[in-house]
Amino acid sequence: MTVRQRVRYARRVLLPLAAAVTLAVGILLGGGASAPSSAATSGPCDIYAAASTPCVAAHSTTRALYAAYDGPLYQVKRASDSTTTTVYPLATGGYANAATQDSFCANTYCTITGIYDQSGNGNNLTDAPAGGAASGPDILANAAAAPTTAGGHKVYGVFISPGMGYRDDSTKNIATGNASEGEYAVLDGTHYDNGCCFDYGNAETNNDDDGSGTMEAINFGNETTWGYGSGSGPWIMADLENGLFSGASAGLNSADPTTNYRFTTAMIEGGANQWAILGGNADSGSLSTDYSGVRPSGYNPMKKQGAIILGIGGDNSDSSAGTFYEGVMTSGYPTAATEAAVQSNITSVGYANYTLPSNPFTTGTAISLQATTPCCTADYLTGNTSGNDVGVTAVTSSSASTLKADATWIVEPGLANSSCVSFKSANGSGDYMRHYNFELYLEPNDGTSQFALDATFCPRAGNSGSNYSFMSYNFSYKYIRHYNYIGYVASDGGSNTWDASSLWYEDSTWAVASPWS
Ligand code: AHR
Ligand code: AHR
Repeated sequence: MTVRQRVRYARRVLLPLAAAVTLAVGILLGGGASAPSSAATSGPCDIYAAASTPCVAAHSTTRALYAAYDGPLYQVKRASDSTTTTVYPLATGGYANAATQDSFCANTYCTITGIYDQSGNGNNLTDAPAGGAASGPDILANAAAAPTTAGGHKVYGVFISPGMGYRDDSTKNIATGNASEGEYAVLDGTHYDNGCCFDYGNAETNNDDDGSGTMEAINFGNETTWGYGSGSGPWIMADLENGLFSGASAGLNSADPTTNYRFTTAMIEGGANQWAILGGNADSGSLSTDYSGVRPSGYNPMKKQGAIILGIGGDNSDSSAGTFYEGVMTSGYPTAATEAAVQSNITSVGYANYTLPSNPFTTGTAISLQATTPCCTADYLTGNTSGNDVGVTAVTSSSASTLKADATWIVEPGLANSSCVSFKSANGSGDYMRHYNFELYLEPNDGTSQFALDATFCPRAGNSGSNYSFMSYNFSYKYIRHYNYIGYVASDGGSNTWDASSLWYEDSTWAVASPWS
């Protein structure tokens, strides 16, 4: 592709995300044209195209899904000045250039405002509007929430917490009616819940529940209201509207297994009175066919409308969680051989966990967490059993041993997800740090899933560019912060006084110190 062709192409796909156009074209002319071409010989969408079931939507924040793609992957917006920038592949057909995001988002908070369609159809995903089930627009994902590596490069996924979601109600070339399509997504198989509905795929164009068969999306989670599979979940299911299906009928279909690989490939295919669920490990091996057969009663013929959703149900039901790395929708029902070739392409990426520099958060380690705001560097995050409160307090070598113990935390696997952590006080109480009404408290684990969520924090690169920050697992747009010496989970700007933008990035950044106790 010549530079002129590339710019014209970029302009076309960028149009719906108008704010990005100027900057994006500038980046293309400036750096993109000379990027080294270390393209893969084919991407998933090249495989689908060769099999005459082409991608009609292709979304990824981690990589190009065509060997020749060098256009925009996603757009981020920062809180400090509300400007946006666009993340491109490092090279044609390559992995996302996450350094663009990291430098643009330094000392502030960034959301993912759009995920570009790489197929040329302009089916970009942006903030989901209100729907029949929930108001809107939905919360945008924290751009830094899901660091991972792909092909050895640091990249970011899309970490969806309840309340977040993306949509495109005005699409081109997506299957409608009873037409055939295929869909795949690479997801974090350990990040899910039983809320409705972490979906990726075909949905209603009016954001409402328009009845059985008006959707056909991949669903991932352990919601059991409609259908479910064997084990305790999560399961790959199809959201066909008014039902998540694990097989031919509602309820248990035991052939659909619990599928929870850290990186999971999930596929749904849908044709005329025929559909299938395929799943596997996105890092190795082949796909299993977990269902292939006729439509459930009441779902033949289908009445697909052709909108695209990510992280929500068809009517904007937004109480679910999950992480998305890449996904496509095809025109036509892909063959088993095609899906096998796509799975092999996905496994070649080598998706892997991103490890923080000198990661000090290993299970069983005792640490103290020192404030980094210039006001407060003598202060440590401290949990006081008598008052249940958590805040920052000055600690010195001559402090009382009870205070030293209150200022020391034992790192444990996150109660809600072992990829994250929970902090148990070293003061002998056995209590954990958890948030409640966004304030931090020290409390005993009551064994509820709510407690586990509230007590799980994900260590991330420090919001001020060094040290560490701790993202709330269930409110992924909030981080542990001190404000007026009290501990909270706080967003960079928001409705609570402690969400104040001033000093947010410093107040939410912590140095890991030797344990006081
Ligand atoms: O089919 C399950 C869910 O039911 C859909 O996603 C939503 O539109 C409806 O509430
Ligand atoms: O928590 C102490 C200070 O209180 C914080 O640095 C600031 O945000 C607030 O004024």
